[in-house]
Parts: sequence; structure tokens; C-alpha cells
Amino acid sequence: MRNSVRYLRNGAVEVIEDLDPKQTLLDHLRLAKQAVGTKEGCNEGDCGACTVVLGRIRDGELYYEPVNACITLTGMVDGCEVVTVEDLAEGETLHPVQQAMVDHHGSQCGFCTPGIVMSLFALYQDGARPVTRQAITDQLSGNLCRCTGYRPIIEAAHSVCATPASDGHARARAGKRLALMNLQDEMDVFVGDERRFFAAPASINSLASLYLEHPDAILVAGATDVGLWITKQLQDLKKVIWLGRVAKLDRLSLAEDGVSMGATVTHARALPVLAAIDPDLGELMRRFGSTQVRASGTVGGNIANGSPIGDLAPALIALGARVYLRRGEEGRAMALEDFFLDYGKQDRLPGEFVVGLAVVRPGEGESFRCYKVSKRFDEDISAVMGAFSLTVAEGRITAARVAFGGMAATPRRGPHTEQALTGMELDDSSHWGRALDALALDYKPISDMRASAEYRNEVARALLMKALVEVAGAETSQTRLIGRRERADAA
Ligand code: FAD
Ligand code: FES
Ligand code: FES
Repeated sequence: MRNSVRYLRNGAVEVIEDLDPKQTLLDHLRLAKQAVGTKEGCNEGDCGACTVVLGRIRDGELYYEPVNACITLTGMVDGCEVVTVEDLAEGETLHPVQQAMVDHHGSQCGFCTPGIVMSLFALYQDGARPVTRQAITDQLSGNLCRCTGYRPIIEAAHSVCATPASDGHARARAGKRLALMNLQDEMDVFVGDERRFFAAPASINSLASLYLEHPDAILVAGATDVGLWITKQLQDLKKVIWLGRVAKLDRLSLAEDGVSMGATVTHARALPVLAAIDPDLGELMRRFGSTQVRASGTVGGNIANGSPIGDLAPALIALGARVYLRRGEEGRAMALEDFFLDYGKQDRLPGEFVVGLAVVRPGEGESFRCYKVSKRFDEDISAVMGAFSLTVAEGRITAARVAFGGMAATPRRGPHTEQALTGMELDDSSHWGRALDALALDYKPISDMRASAEYRNEVARALLMKALVEVAGAETSQTRLIGRRERADAA
């Protein structure tokens, strides 16, 4: 057992032995380390002013990813390198990303610029070249500025990310990798006492027994939901169990028949694997939150939070996914749709946690489609999310799975709609009305700040219609701004 949190910054190991379990990384950096270049803007993961970059070891390699410090808990940087905007320049010489921002007039106000620089620093360190315009705009999806423009920033990114990284961080990369490898021990971390603690178990067995002992503790994976309980609801989380150190809980495997994902697989890692199952899943994940949210948020957290507007659940329900749970020594599995009982209520016992998910690849004759409708393209929660899996033989639908988010108190299948679709001639659109009308039997959405009930009902009909048009054979260039084929090529 280790009673401290350790991380690397500027080549030195920082050790924290006295830790408020709910302290955010932003507060730690600004208040304890006086690293005030990292700014507080929205304090809810939306604006990117607080972006810092974490260096993490995965499969023996060092990866740099931007995260929102405002909704990352300090304890979650255990075993990581933390890079802030203060750590880029070498003496009086600006970092190449900072210099490019100056040269291209991309530098804006003191709030958004540090976060933008940190997001571009992560892209600069990423080995993938050449860097496309879409890669740059995706990278900046979590850095908001409403005052000026993105064009000079994109030009700065193009110029500096065209060649391999050659800054001090790149030169020190091998040494940092080694230093981080030395921090990867297999000890359970426990800082605090029985009444108030930050714990980070190292194995599934340790997690299972600790959570059984403290079923009132809050499990934290990426904290992209939990972080807001602290910063917006001002909750005092006394007992935190972070899942980020649990070995094998982040396993991700793609096989012929489908994908198996551990609960702590981040959305960033899940993206290419889900895109390989179906291009629509890839596009859904590209629009999930922002680069920062995808680097922290996990598939397990997105399912376990039981949100009626979470994006993954409807898509995975339509694909017939199963969820795996564990409590103490006992494990069980169920169809994902059965996990959601009611608003805020999942089929999960005290002390029980999500271990992972299994998703089967669409079979012979099966077509999958999913569509997210939100006010903004990036970094927005769905108003309506529709997912459809239609099996077609000789022009007739032989099986259908329909699931929606945003249309009920939980992500939910539409049994009447599925029944109306099954047996329907796809070639003759005069038959489609019965299935579209059946949606009203399955879903009674509410009006809220995202959309009115009337809008949601209309959108649901339009999405089912779009799926039918596409599966019946229409070119997606007629139904989409970004075609399915282009997404498949991009994936
Ligand atoms: P956490 O915040 O760590 O946990 C969430 C909940 O799940 C908590 O109740 C926690 O106790 C519980 N939990 C976590 N892991 C487990 C486990 N293994 N077993 C049992 N319980 C567990 N969501 C979308 O669906 N689509 C979006 O586009 C989207 N955009 C967002 C944009 C922003 C700016 C923000 C801040 C959030 C956004 N979200 C979005 C919500 C959030 O990012 C996702 O729900 C994310 O997947 C949550 O995962 P996490 O690992 O961060 O969960
Ligand atoms: Fe806005 Fe953190 S302060 S994302
Ligand atoms: Fe910085 Fe707009 S928020 S210039």
C-alpha cells in the first residue's frame, strides 16, 4: 500500500501525502504550485482555458493528451507527467507552438490562449504527420473563444505541426518515459483515513473488496461527470475510489466478431476501434465531447451514469451489447438495455461496479445507423440520439433493433417500432408510415432546455426515415453533410 500520490513535472517527482480527495488539478496547480498560467474559465470542462497536458504510459509507450484540469482530480495524475503552459518555453526562447501562434497572429486573450497552446502542444508531440485541417479542428474542439477567430490559430498549427517534434520535451522523451515507467508500481494507493480518503486500487480484486467495504464511496473514472458535482454542485466528496490504476480494467480488444472494452477505456481509445465496427460509431465518437473530454471520459462512466442523453448507450443497445458487473467475488452480465431501470436508477447493487462491455459486429445483411442531433457539432450533449440496426433479406426487414436517447427517462428500445419494421418491404416507402407512427407509442419525451417534446418527436421520425432511406440504398451524399463513405475512409 502506498499512502501518497506521485507525478512527474519538469523532470522532478512531486509527492503528495496530504490530499483533499475532491481537490481538482486546477486548484492544485494554481494554489499549491502557483502555476497560474493555467486559467479557470467555465470550471465545467467546456471552454478549455484550464487545458494541461498529461504524459501517460500505455503498453510501455509515452502518450501526451490534453485534459481539462478543472474537472480532473489531483489524485488522478498519479503516475503521469503533468505539463502546463509554464513548462514550454526554454529560458527566453518561446516553444515552437508559442512562436507559431505569435507569427500567425493566433494569440488572443490571456484566458483562451494558454489552453489553445496546450492543445496544440499535445498535437505537436503526437507522432502522426501530416496533420490535416480536420485533425487540427478536432484537436481544438474543446477550446472555445467567442471573441475572435480560429483561422490564424489553424494556420499556426499547420505551420508548426508539419514537421516532427524537436523541442526540449521531444529531446527528453526517452528519459521521461523511463522516469514514468519507474512510477508505475503495482501498489494500491490510499491517501487519508477511513472517513475521508482518495484511493486508487491497483487490481480488480482490491477494487472489489474496497468498494464492498465502502459502498458509500464515489467511484471516479474520468471525472468528466463527477468533476462537475464538485465544481458546480459544490458537493463534498469524502471517499473517492479512482479506477484509473486498476490493471486490466482498461483492456480493449477488437476481434472478428466484435469489441470487448474494459470500463476504463477512454473515449479517445475506443474511437478507432468502434469506427472499425461501423463508420457511424466512429463519427459519433468524433463528436463526443471534445478532445479533452475524450482523453479522460470512459465508456464505463458513460454507461454507469445512466444518463438519458448519454451517447453510447443507444448506439450500443441497438447493436445488442452486453454489460459486465462485479460485486465482491460475484460477477454477472446482462443485455445493456436491461441495465437502465428508470431515471437515475440502474440495475447495480451497493458495492457493485461495471467491469466492461461486449459489442458484437453487425452480422450478414445487418445495417447499422446512428445519428446525434445537438445544437452544436462539437462538445454538446444530444437533444436526440437515434440508433438503428436493420437486418434485410430480399428487400424485406427480417429483424430490427431501435434505440433512442433523449426520448425517455432512460436510453430505451422501441418495441412497437421494431415490430412495425419487422416484415416490412423496404423497397416500397408507402409502407414506412406505420413504423414512423409506432414511434409515438414507444416514446413520450419531455420538453427541457435542450429541446421541446414536439421537436424531439419530429426529429425521431426524421431519423428513422433517414435510416430507412439510407438502408434502402440512397447515396449518403443525399442524406448527410459528411458522407458515411468519407467517414469510413477517414477511419
Ligand atoms: P465519471 O465522471 O468518472 O463517472 C460518472 C458516473 O459513473 C459516476 O456516478 C461514477 O461513480 C460512475 N462510474 C464511473 N465508472 C464506473 C464503473 N466502472 N462502475 C460503476 N460506476 C462507475 N456525454 C455524452 O454522452 N456525449 C457527449 O458528447 C458528452 N459531452 C460532454 C462534454 C463535456 C464538456 C462534459 C464535461 C461532459 C460530456 N459528456 C458527454 C458527459 C461525460 O463526459 C460522459 O458521460 C463520460 O463518458 C463519463 O465518463 P467518466 O469516465 O468521466 O465518468
Ligand atoms: Fe473551462 Fe476548465 S475552465 S474547461
Ligand atoms: Fe480569449 Fe475570446 S476567450 S479571445
